[in-house]
Amino acid sequence: MANETEFKAWLVTENDGQFSGEEVIRKVSDLPEDDVLIRVRYSSLNYKDALSASGNRGVTRNYPHTPGIDAFGDVIESADDRVKPGQHVIVTGYDLGMNTDGGFGEYIRVPAGWCVPMPDGWDGIKAMTYGTAGLTAGLCVSKILMAGAKPEQGKVAVTGATGAVGSVCVELLSGLGFDVVAVSGKADQASLLEELGAKEVVGRDALNPEKRPLLKPVFANGIDTVGGAPLAELLKQISPGGSVSCCGLVAGPQLETTVLPFILRGVNLLGVDSVEIPLEDKAAVWKMLAGEWACPVSEQHCRTIARRELPESLGAFLKGESVGKIVLDHSL
Ligand SMILES: NC(=O)c1ccc[n+]([C@@H]2O[C@H](COP(=O)([O-])OP(=O)(O)OC[C@H]3O[C@@H](n4cnc5c(N)ncnc54)[C@H](OP(=O)(O)O)[C@@H]3O)[C@@H](O)[C@H]2O)c1
Repeated sequence: MANETEFKAWLVTENDGQFSGEEVIRKVSDLPEDDVLIRVRYSSLNYKDALSASGNRGVTRNYPHTPGIDAFGDVIESADDRVKPGQHVIVTGYDLGMNTDGGFGEYIRVPAGWCVPMPDGWDGIKAMTYGTAGLTAGLCVSKILMAGAKPEQGKVAVTGATGAVGSVCVELLSGLGFDVVAVSGKADQASLLEELGAKEVVGRDALNPEKRPLLKPVFANGIDTVGGAPLAELLKQISPGGSVSCCGLVAGPQLETTVLPFILRGVNLLGVDSVEIPLEDKAAVWKMLAGEWACPVSEQHCRTIARRELPESLGAFLKGESVGKIVLDHSL
């Protein structure tokens, strides 16, 4: 394909310390040299995209930059036999959308080792309905299952329950037979959380900081998507032998805890990284999400937006106001 081919992309630039994004025309030759050129159809929106778009140097060092940490699209050219032209692929994580031009542009060029073939019977919009958040939710659930979590042990808490990761966790766990307690700051979204399968919806104040290092065990297991003080409080309320997987930091990166939940109750704190794990581990979760772990309610509530709507949708992530899954559709 001619390097001079033009395409539309959303580009974030820095002016006097202020960051703003706009649609621009770019050329394929502007993309980094790499194995596989992909025509992007959809990209899902994630908290990390909002950080990249607002100038967070921990995510993106150099601007101008096109965010978008995941993408679904068609392979146009490939210099690697593992990926064939015409194939439909999902790319999530690694450096995509961080310092490599991401899915908010109509084309990306990436290493072959970042491309997962789309599971049979799926389509691109479904893949990005789950996106990085769905993959992360699948990994969070896998971690507590591998640690021995079972529905009959009791309630499982999910924090940040209306968020992109949290909402899929609620539906996935309830589909597996768990009694899910959704912890949410959005009282007006209780009916959505119940539709996703939550047995109970409680406010964030259920995890308000308490001085005591251990509290009455309320939850058998948990999935935490917010980090900070709520995670520390959740650990105090986990039953002996229970597990909590954690993936996020919207409530803060600090974790101030004691060792007591771990040494007196044998609680497991399990970290989840969806970014740098081996491709085959990502592919295994995609296969589950395309099959027995399908989340029809999350799929149904997913919203599609056009590039021009990105500023508003990304802003909602930074204010903690985003609900459910949002997909950028490049055809809109
Ligand atoms: N480790 C990984 O590989 C990985 C992958 C994907 C995402 N993540 C991280 O996971 C986290 C969630 O991502 P997301 O895409 O689901 O974001 P999101 O859609 O913005 O969801 C986060 C949710 O957390 C709650 N929340 C927001 N601010 C809060 C605060 N100050 N205190 C307590 N709760 C708060 C809100 O839900 P309620 O209003 O319902 O409480 C919000 O909807 C982010 O930190 C993201 O960076 C990590």
